[in-house]
Amino acid sequence: MAKNIKRIGVMTSGGDSPGMNAAIRAVVRSCAYYHVGCVGFYRGFQGMIEGEYEELNARSVRNIISRGGTILKSARSKEFLTVEGRQKAADNLKKAEIDAMVLIGGDGTFRGGKILREEHGIPIIGVPGTIDNDIYGTNYTIGYDTALNTVVEAIDKIRDTASSHNRLFFVEVMGRDAGFIALNSGIGAGAEEILIPEENLGLDRLLDSLERSRRSGKTSSIVIVSEGDKIGKNVFELAEYVTKNLPYYETKVTVLGHIQRGGSPSCFDRVLASRLCVKAVELILDGKTDLMVGFLNNQIESCSLELALKSKPNINKDLLRISDILST
Ligand code: F6P
Repeated sequence: MAKNIKRIGVMTSGGDSPGMNAAIRAVVRSCAYYHVGCVGFYRGFQGMIEGEYEELNARSVRNIISRGGTILKSARSKEFLTVEGRQKAADNLKKAEIDAMVLIGGDGTFRGGKILREEHGIPIIGVPGTIDNDIYGTNYTIGYDTALNTVVEAIDKIRDTASSHNRLFFVEVMGRDAGFIALNSGIGAGAEEILIPEENLGLDRLLDSLERSRRSGKTSSIVIVSEGDKIGKNVFELAEYVTKNLPYYETKVTVLGHIQRGGSPSCFDRVLASRLCVKAVELILDGKTDLMVGFLNNQIESCSLELALKSKPNINKDLLRISDILST
């Protein structure tokens, strides 16, 4: 155990995700277990800049494992993008006697942590928390599983009404740059078509596929559209385009939006968050820094933050083929 580590800071930053509270709890309780202090910073890097922090003990995190959101709140800080902002943040870390930080969030959070480390030498460990699952170095990010379940439950409900009225629904799901949510919820909910940013299948293919569905006797259909889809039209324009070209379809649009980010975390996310954060604290106590913890091939692993930041996780394109086969 590194003797120089007496107090560890923790914060959540960027888009919140279900399971972040389980992650905070695991950091705080691991610190208590290993007899080091723990300080929570509120509203991500912004709270660090404004000196908004609080000492946390094992009891501060009671009964939060089941709660969505993050008790430490989250923010996207413009001030932290400036040298002066980061200087204020570093000064406050010093004032709070922080020896190392656990940063829970996505790539923006890790980029911020890396620059803080480079400019001010603060050891950092990243923990991947985002519903998008778009982080290299882990098969799952905290919150992704819960978001998938939220989406599938919503689509199941949409399916009921789509089928009652013989309608075609376009359902937009989150994933600014990544199609993990769209692809996996699409298969899980039996969607007819799935549009993801990683693969532009084109408008003609979409029309052909919907036409084929109708001819095969389907009376209703669901098309899942990832918000970052590159087909060149947003979900409303897409629905309009299809109505114009296939007038026998009555189309409707549902944008699931931020309900995907909330809710009580699934057991999978709670366990994932717990395991990743125990590891994060242990890495710090072993004197490690500049790493991201991840869940790879059923094991808790770590990789360099730099690698996590410069690489993109691959989407399994075979799932598109599976979806094609199963939507016959
Ligand atoms: O980063 C996760 C994410 O859920 C994206 O899929 C989405 O585009 C974004 O957050 C929206 O975040 P906000 O409303 O906080 O800007």
